[in-house]
Amino acid sequence: MGHGPRSSAKQAQLYERWGEKRDLERVKEAVKRDLHIHKIAAFPSDFLVGKRSGERVRQVVRTKFHGTCLPEQMKTLPTQGKILLPLDHLPPDTVPSEMPPYLMARLEHFLTDAQQAGLLSRWNKLIATDPKHLLKHDANRSNSEGYHFGLWEVTASTPRITRESRDQSDDAKEAIDNLLRFLKSYIANKIGTAFEELAPDQWKAMLKANARVMDLLAREHSARPSLFMGGPFFAVAAKEAGSGVTHIDWNDDKAVYAFIFAVGDWEGGEFCVPQLGIKIPVRPGQVLCVLARVLAHFSAPTGTFFGMETQKLLNWRSTTQVV
Ligand SMILES: [Fe+2]
Repeated sequence: MGHGPRSSAKQAQLYERWGEKRDLERVKEAVKRDLHIHKIAAFPSDFLVGKRSGERVRQVVRTKFHGTCLPEQMKTLPTQGKILLPLDHLPPDTVPSEMPPYLMARLEHFLTDAQQAGLLSRWNKLIATDPKHLLKHDANRSNSEGYHFGLWEVTASTPRITRESRDQSDDAKEAIDNLLRFLKSYIANKIGTAFEELAPDQWKAMLKANARVMDLLAREHSARPSLFMGGPFFAVAAKEAGSGVTHIDWNDDKAVYAFIFAVGDWEGGEFCVPQLGIKIPVRPGQVLCVLARVLAHFSAPTGTFFGMETQKLLNWRSTTQVV
């Protein structure tokens, strides 16, 4: 049912209220104000090949990037608004062919206050069950031990449920499922939409990888459906506080984003990237999309928080051959 034609007085009133916002130039300005494009000078290919060693990463950063390896030496990007680091201005032969269009992105208004509170309460309930740490702790990497929940196939030829999701008490497993069910219900879809917008080709590959996982792990899926996110990511790395030491996430795929966000009693932290000489503030509600296998990084957080990296740990290249 329509509303019928508007009177000219009503139209004039509407124009007064909305006319300015409809002005195209003003809209463009507003979008520009909220969008920061940071053009990098060269593709950071330092760790694409070579030994997978944290010590090597830190040595290269200390020597080649000695002028931008400390937070106070880095340029700070804007605290608010969307940030994109495109690659299309670089000479094509300097950018690996499988790369998505953006090296990093920071997105606004990604988690509502209620979603942050929901995640935090589920995290606290999980910690109260005293879940076991079952992975080798990398003392060089972070100040606190993290957990990996969900799926991966780092050391196996087929995907499986991570040990830390599996070898736990019944109480802990229930709390893990509860946390991941919340992520799946309220956040995974949003991440999928952002992923598809930022990197449509890589998104298609993620969906293929997901179809393969659903096929291979049908039994596990029916037993614990909350561990299966449906495509945007496969594993969740969760911990109190960030990784304060420069590192590369070797098990991530070079061309697939990790999504980083945090909730808790904090005002925000900074995601520091010595190779680019920049630090990106991350405030409550924002999410950072980053190629964590390409860029050496560390975080300089303030306050206590629970941070998550939603990771792509499955080898989609072999997957695309299978599917
Ligand atoms: Fe990381």
